[in-house]
Amino acid sequence: MEQQDSVFFLLLLFLLFQVMLVAAQTSSQDFSGLQSLTQSWTNKPPNWVGTDPCGSNWDGITCTNSRITQLRLSGLTLVGQLSSAIESLSELDTVDLSYNTGLTGTIPKEIGNLTKLKSLALVGCGFYGPIPDSIGSLKQLTFLALNSNRFNGSIPHSIGNLSNINWLDLSDNQLGGPIPVSDDRGQLGLDLLLKAQHFHMGDNKLSGQIPSKLFNSSMILVHVLFYGNQLVGTIPSSLSLVSTVEVVRFDKNGLTGGVPSNFNKLGQLSELYLSDNNFNGSLPDLSGMNSLTYVDMSNNSFTSSDYIPSWVTSLEVLTTVILEDNQLGGTFNISNGYSTSLQLINLQNNAITDYKPGNQKINFEVILSGNPFCLENGVSQQSYCQVVTAIPSYSTPANNCSAQTCSNSQISSPNCKCAYPYTGSLISRALSISIFNTTDYQDIEKSLLASFRAQNLPVDSVSLSNPTKNSSNDNFQFTLSVFPYQIDRFNRSGVSQIAFVLSNQIYKAPEFFSPYFFIGDDYGYYGGEPKKSSSIHTGVIVGVVLAVVAFLVLAVLAGMYAISQKRRAQRMKEQNPFVNWEQNKDNGIAPQLKGARWFSFDELRRYSNNFAEANTIGTGGYGQVYQGVLPTGELVAIKRAAKQSMQGAAEFKTEIELLSRVHHKNLVSLVGFCFEKGEQMLVYEYIPNGTLMDSLTGKSGIWMDWIRRLKVTLGSAKGLTYLHELANPPIIHRDIKSGNILLDSHLNAKVADFGLSKLLADSDVGHVTTQVKGTMGYLDPEYYMTTQLTEKSDVYSFGVLMLELVTARRPIEQGKFIVREVNRIMDTSKDLYNLHSILDPTIIKETKPKGLEKFVELALRCVKEHAHDRPSMADVVKEVEHIIELVGLNPNSESASTSEAYDVEKGGDIIHPYGKEDFNYSGLFPSSKVEPL
Ligand SMILES: *[C@@H]1O[C@H](CO)[C@@H](O)[C@H](O)[C@H]1NC(C)=O
Ligand SMILES: *[C@@H]1O[C@H](CO)[C@@H](O)[C@H](O)[C@H]1NC(C)=O
Ligand SMILES: *[C@@H]1O[C@H](CO)[C@@H](O)[C@H](O)[C@H]1NC(C)=O
Ligand SMILES: *[C@@H]1O[C@H](CO)[C@@H](O)[C@H](O)[C@H]1NC(C)=O
Ligand SMILES: *[C@@H]1O[C@H](CO)[C@@H](O)[C@H](O)[C@H]1NC(C)=O
Ligand SMILES: *[C@@H]1O[C@H](CO)[C@@H](O)[C@H](O)[C@H]1NC(C)=O
Repeated sequence: MEQQDSVFFLLLLFLLFQVMLVAAQTSSQDFSGLQSLTQSWTNKPPNWVGTDPCGSNWDGITCTNSRITQLRLSGLTLVGQLSSAIESLSELDTVDLSYNTGLTGTIPKEIGNLTKLKSLALVGCGFYGPIPDSIGSLKQLTFLALNSNRFNGSIPHSIGNLSNINWLDLSDNQLGGPIPVSDDRGQLGLDLLLKAQHFHMGDNKLSGQIPSKLFNSSMILVHVLFYGNQLVGTIPSSLSLVSTVEVVRFDKNGLTGGVPSNFNKLGQLSELYLSDNNFNGSLPDLSGMNSLTYVDMSNNSFTSSDYIPSWVTSLEVLTTVILEDNQLGGTFNISNGYSTSLQLINLQNNAITDYKPGNQKINFEVILSGNPFCLENGVSQQSYCQVVTAIPSYSTPANNCSAQTCSNSQISSPNCKCAYPYTGSLISRALSISIFNTTDYQDIEKSLLASFRAQNLPVDSVSLSNPTKNSSNDNFQFTLSVFPYQIDRFNRSGVSQIAFVLSNQIYKAPEFFSPYFFIGDDYGYYGGEPKKSSSIHTGVIVGVVLAVVAFLVLAVLAGMYAISQKRRAQRMKEQNPFVNWEQNKDNGIAPQLKGARWFSFDELRRYSNNFAEANTIGTGGYGQVYQGVLPTGELVAIKRAAKQSMQGAAEFKTEIELLSRVHHKNLVSLVGFCFEKGEQMLVYEYIPNGTLMDSLTGKSGIWMDWIRRLKVTLGSAKGLTYLHELANPPIIHRDIKSGNILLDSHLNAKVADFGLSKLLADSDVGHVTTQVKGTMGYLDPEYYMTTQLTEKSDVYSFGVLMLELVTARRPIEQGKFIVREVNRIMDTSKDLYNLHSILDPTIIKETKPKGLEKFVELALRCVKEHAHDRPSMADVVKEVEHIIELVGLNPNSESASTSEAYDVEKGGDIIHPYGKEDFNYSGLFPSSKVEPL
């Protein structure tokens, strides 16, 4: 009897366990993997309790379909080691443990099992020991940042296996040995990394020569940084084959010889640091290197016989030349003119015997102290014979308010609110200027703020302070303080997201500051969270409680099975908002919907070939889009929501109703939907020519000339006008962007994805207050600030889209915001408003695009800061029609008139400005879409 009882009890327990596993959203493999990875860690986020990291949104853990795909744990003051258990989290694509100085120990070789990893950032932790050879198995890796740890040993040859790597940062470690290159015995090496743009290897102990094999013309390197090592020998002339190089740093090594004579082939080279080596011979001839901005060749043995070469003052964009501590003699002559970009020429401690400034007043700094010339009577008191090197101090001023006096070590933010900022050092690895003016600082402040806001992070303001130059590696840095929005401190989620933006280079710094890196300080003010307790312990308790509860529920269910089944069915029916459509389900037509069909799951599965990988035509945070074929032969796009992006049944129903009501030739129309088996799917008409973004980037191979762009603008504007003015109630799209404009077979524009749309129903004030949603770069700043959504927010995004159409640049590219760039360059007194440098070359190639000035003016009115200064979409339609008339076409004609001439041209190598920065870091992450916090 007793034995039977206990057998029965065990059986029940087993069943319960199964039930719990089914109930949790996290796969059991991942939960136990995470559990063993973190079991010895301390300082874990207090919300890491229970057994369901995915279902209960543990800080820093992101899941896709019950698998853990991202660990974003930067800046969380975690303490512990990285154990081999990480191998069981086999779906990880992103790991960021940066700025946890308490994470130490070696990297386990099992890291190599994470074959789906795309991004690995362990910046500024306490890791040491060798970088494991197994790193070479991470074939998907595009971003690897191991900088600022204490790794030693040599750089493994297997890194040469990372054929997709774009960003490789091993700086500031203790890595020794030679620079690995491949050989004919099958060794791999850095020379195989043909997709890499960033070799950041400074501040290590690399030794030996720089292998000539390291560089060749197949590479696309932009930043070649090897400063602060123990390299000897000469700079290989093969470096000149890498025509994409913009920054070269070989300073602080033991290099000899001179600069290779073919060096001036590097037409893009902007910053050249060769200081503190043993270079000798005559000062290299850098004339013709028209991109050079910053040259530091100090503390070498360069010579010049009778004059300082003219490139020192004549290169057009050159701001800074540092040649101190060499053996330069002769005359320094600038009386024949100099470039207006110059900020500093430092010739301290050389052998210069004459200086000819001419009669002009020069507005850059010249330093000649320590030269024989300065010992002469009459000049020794001149300012250029004094040493002036201190960096002027800076700190972000208050923003039209008076700074508060704060208590409890809080700090007054630029908006004069007391709070605990998240701080750290923002450090440039190569500057292109030597004097920061207020505008330069503001550029950094604004771009930082824009980056944080574009990710919808709770940031009030940022401040910069304490600019310094690190004397050991010449890196320029300052303190960055990020202040929380409307609260006095960040929570863990806020800090880890801010840290992630900086550790993963999502923030694009202005060019003069790039490349940069960030080292976060420990944040000691996490607040508003329950007192720390061992999460394993709590986890066990919660587990037991759940088990007991589930046991009771199961018992009740078992006892009253029939009745409860019946009741449940009843309840389901009441809760299911589709119930009143149910009657008509069989004939496949939902009554309230104009023509939208109700598909069963099995139907859609059949039409999409069992949701085959091969049928995938889009993937994003929301889920996946599959191509399908209806029995009629009609092509459709089936958008299948991922678990985490499903909405409630009521919202889903609203969306279907909304979508089925809008019918316009410039809007993608809804064919049907499916709401069954826990799935939410929308079925749209299939639009064959992809997104406008794909065309602008050259990805789809569709050629877009000026007239085509005008027509696409007009079409999308008409679609949007319909939503704003003719739909009843009006609809605000909320996510207008080039990725949401599709092109049909005649290249007519169709606005897609009303996923974020808001009805303006029940709102006589003309706005609705909502959580801010939208896409980075297109987001209306006024909406962002006030959270009040109006049609004018769509107008703002549309203005950005128009600028994208004329420039073929993304809204935010290399840290530059397109609206600001156009405003900055624009000069209405000049031809094409002086915009040549920013316009898409393909539209100005042949003839001058008619009406372009008007188009840009209109775009800039759409992006006015205040909504009331922006035109309505109907106004935009009128003006674009007017521009099309200017071009000599009939705006109301269908594309047929031009469809011959502008038919799709596929294939061919279309060279494209987007292509320049062809690696998009943020593309790694589920969406650049702003998600609610
Ligand atoms: C990790 O990789 C090794 C060697 O490739 C393999 O033997 C091991 O089974 C893998 N571990 C897991 C958990 O997949
Ligand atoms: C390179 O990658 C392949 C997988 O693509 C792997 O089999 C091989 O072991 C790797 N080689 C090294 C040296 O890591
Ligand atoms: C790396 O550092 C550890 C101590 O942190 C030391 O024991 C080991 O010998 C070093 N290895 C090399 C190759 O320098
Ligand atoms: C550059 O080097 C890589 C690897 O060593 C090689 O595969 C490629 O063919 C080389 N390209 C040229 C143009 O030599
Ligand atoms: C540069 O120095 C090396 C030795 O360090 C010497 O062999 C060479 O002749 C020097 N070159 C010139 C041009 O002085
Ligand atoms: C600030 O310096 C930048 C170059 O760094 C220059 O382009 C800009 O005109 C300067 N602005 C002012 C206000 O001096």
